[in-house]
Amino acid sequence: MNKAMMGLWDKLSANQTANQDRSIASLFSDPYRLDRFSTQACDVFLDASKTNIDNAALDLLIGLVTEADVAGKRDAMFAGKKINDTEGRAVLHTALRANNSDPLNVDDEDVRPGIAETLNRMRQFCDDVRTGAITTPAGQRFTDVVNIGIGGSDLGPAMAVQALAPYHDGPKCHFVSNVDAAHIHDVVAALDPATTLIVIASKTFTTIETMTNARAAMMWLKAGVGAQTTGHLAAISSAVDKTAAMGIDPERVFGFEEWVGGRYSLWGPIGLAIMLAIGGDRFAEFLAGARDMDAHFQTAPLDQNLPVMLALTGLWHRNVCGYPTRAVLPYDQRLNRFPAYLQQLDMESNGKRVTLAGETLTIASGPVVWGEPGTNGQHAFYQLLHQGTDVIPAEFLIAAEGHEPDFQDHHELLKANCLAQSEALMLGRSATAAREIAGDLGFTGAEADRQAAHRTFPGNRPSVTIAYPKLTPRMLGTLIALYEHRVFVEGAVWGINSFDQWGVELGKELAKALLPMVRSGQAEGKDASTAGLVTFLKK
Ligand code: F6P
Repeated sequence: MNKAMMGLWDKLSANQTANQDRSIASLFSDPYRLDRFSTQACDVFLDASKTNIDNAALDLLIGLVTEADVAGKRDAMFAGKKINDTEGRAVLHTALRANNSDPLNVDDEDVRPGIAETLNRMRQFCDDVRTGAITTPAGQRFTDVVNIGIGGSDLGPAMAVQALAPYHDGPKCHFVSNVDAAHIHDVVAALDPATTLIVIASKTFTTIETMTNARAAMMWLKAGVGAQTTGHLAAISSAVDKTAAMGIDPERVFGFEEWVGGRYSLWGPIGLAIMLAIGGDRFAEFLAGARDMDAHFQTAPLDQNLPVMLALTGLWHRNVCGYPTRAVLPYDQRLNRFPAYLQQLDMESNGKRVTLAGETLTIASGPVVWGEPGTNGQHAFYQLLHQGTDVIPAEFLIAAEGHEPDFQDHHELLKANCLAQSEALMLGRSATAAREIAGDLGFTGAEADRQAAHRTFPGNRPSVTIAYPKLTPRMLGTLIALYEHRVFVEGAVWGINSFDQWGVELGKELAKALLPMVRSGQAEGKDASTAGLVTFLKK
């Protein structure tokens, strides 16, 4: 971190120390607060005004983004520079959704023709499956698709397929990720192998969970349809030699390049299940939505730039206020898996403890990201959000309109609840108001004080609200790209590599070594805890 950035962090810290007892609500005495702290673009309204960031702090935060050369790093990413330098890779998921034929070179090779060709092949395959031009070897239509993959080869398409349920008009898509046999067992139990297409999704085609589940799926198919399994298989992978070894027809293998990270891969072949579910035209809208956000991110001024503004709230809360987590709370039931998807996007990207130069970070990096859809969470963990000892910044997502016009009142109730929560977090309830409530309930004296203490809400808890017209394919693309770029901006300010994931490797290696021990019940050389658990689990 350079000196100028250190100075900015120090000033931010001084601002926070001086203002930590100030109420967020008091900031609204500035009639321009909402204007300055909200951003509208790409049909998204981002309201960051219910935070304790004031005008001076916002200027300092923008200064950090400028000083960290986020714009230069962003341009390098879009231009195909090898910014993932621990893996020696470019980062070009944005190219998968670009509508541009200008050459884009990686290692002196234009990547655009390959992207277009793969997209066309995906489209043809999905159209054919959806219309019945491709059938099972026995001539039946595919009614169901099972996507077998994990991490980025599962979370993105699983989340998006669920999010876009109102647009489904193709085969029903199911997802198997966990190596726990319960997962594949329970998914295939309800399916007919004779009309099921299995899609094995793995960039590397080595991931142990996916390979294990793929073998189980093949056995299930074989038991159901005999020798004709090949016609029930497709694969999404760059490892064509490995897909061929599994007997998958090369015509049904959709590859993607090393410059697409797993958690950024739903825009290309890993999105096959999305395309099968909603069709090629709507998938194109999904890409267009992300493209809208890409163009906005590349051109909008920093203080009117959605990903930048969202990232600034993240940096403020994580680094300046020291809050270790953030809750993502979609008031949109079909975004049920959005928090889980974001956990990989954000925490696999920014859960890093060294800088690009390999030096130990001197400031905190990615927070814990978690969440559940509202209103469900309100009847569970919101207790802690409102009255717990930790402050947890909340990010609410809410659509103006739902997909169920016959249930309009549900949607009004949903919106009212969403807005009520951010208001309650900010305003809280004073001890005086709580004392009055206790009095109304018939409590008096010391007991009224005690009851009032339990009914007091400290308030002054920050939140951000992201509002949008409706969760269409286009809007989903826009929202995902917003979060992708937010992760990028935060990582760029921290000076880390947001595109590698070495932290997931050690466990994989140890699991391999432990497998024979688990099988035999003998864990020689292991620590006493591990050995004891191996023995117990064997018995
Ligand atoms: O283990 C982490 C990871 O490498 C993720 O980054 C990736 O999304 C996931 O595993 C799945 O990898 P693959 O697509 O190669 O099976």
